[in-house]
Amino acid sequence: MLSKRMNYALAIFCALIMLSASMLAKTRVTKQAFGHTTDGTPVDIYSLADGKIEVRIMTYGGIVVSLRTPDRNGKLADVVLGHDSVDGYIPNPPYLGALIGRYGNRIAHGSFQLDGKTYSLPKNDGDNTLHGGIKGFNQVVWTGKEIKDGVELTYLSKDGEQGFPGNLTAIVRYTVSDGALRIEYSATTDKDTVVNLTNHSYFNLAGQGTGDILGHVLKIDASRFTPVDATLIPTGELKPVEGTPFDFRAPHSIGERINADDEQLRRGKGYDHNFVLDHTAGQLSEAAEVYEPTTGRILKVLTTEPGLQFYTGNFLDGTITGKEGRVYKPRYAFCLETQHFPDSPNHPSFPSTELKPGEKYHSVTVFQFSASSR
Ligand code: BGC
Repeated sequence: MLSKRMNYALAIFCALIMLSASMLAKTRVTKQAFGHTTDGTPVDIYSLADGKIEVRIMTYGGIVVSLRTPDRNGKLADVVLGHDSVDGYIPNPPYLGALIGRYGNRIAHGSFQLDGKTYSLPKNDGDNTLHGGIKGFNQVVWTGKEIKDGVELTYLSKDGEQGFPGNLTAIVRYTVSDGALRIEYSATTDKDTVVNLTNHSYFNLAGQGTGDILGHVLKIDASRFTPVDATLIPTGELKPVEGTPFDFRAPHSIGERINADDEQLRRGKGYDHNFVLDHTAGQLSEAAEVYEPTTGRILKVLTTEPGLQFYTGNFLDGTITGKEGRVYKPRYAFCLETQHFPDSPNHPSFPSTELKPGEKYHSVTVFQFSASSR
């Protein structure tokens, strides 16, 4: 039997071990100057490292500039497309890594009605408005503040900005812990408006710019998706994925059916569709999982959102040279944009994107990284 004194010493020893483990697990947050926008506004970059992954986020566009995660042998690689400096992101036609607002995805004919009033938005995608208009949240400098495990970004979008009603205060918190990047979005308004925020990171789990993502194996927990017209606006139908190339309820490689003889795939030039998640919206739960066989890297996506835009980088055309001089070609990355459905303001049957004064928009998405020894 251990003496009282030894018991006491053992208890102190265990407490010290636990304390140092928790200190090791703590996320290191550092901030650095990262250049200027074209009008001279200074931009900062925050680095969030938890000992497993390292994520760098800048105040311009709230852009995830790099995201380094280990493979099955512990070797780190940057798994998101992007640029080495702010200049590379001005402009940023594919929205690499950016925060998207006020309205992620498309609004048909740049127009919607709210409270009997018609609002007109700038059209930047043929006849439609894409990702908040000509100057969306991806092109503004956010105010950054260090918080526990991460950074809080704030942006006040003025009443009438890009045609949207109401002064909208948007707050996005990026935090890193235990190998996961958590994004928490919140917003309030002083007039009835619509809002749909997301992040537009382009992932390649084999390493950014190293090749296409067709060999990645994907699972999406969605029994239905929203088919689109020729301009990628939802028709309004919630179509069962059963028997279509959109059925990812069991894992399939992204490339397996991407060139199938399918009108929807032809319209998107590949996958560029919103999936209707099976989970209860509002509850943080798993929506998708991606496995990259050559490195063993796994990405799990959890969200409170009802939808997920799966986009296979079909419009990357080799004209953009990104980090480390890598050229971004079609299908060199995939996006999993958690969101409300595209064009919801024009589809009363879709979950509502309306926000009223006194209400709080709140949405959480987690990108969880790991590696399998398989
Ligand atoms: C859209 C694509 C679009 C891309 C812009 C995605 O969210 O669904 O159609 O081309 O963003 O980079």
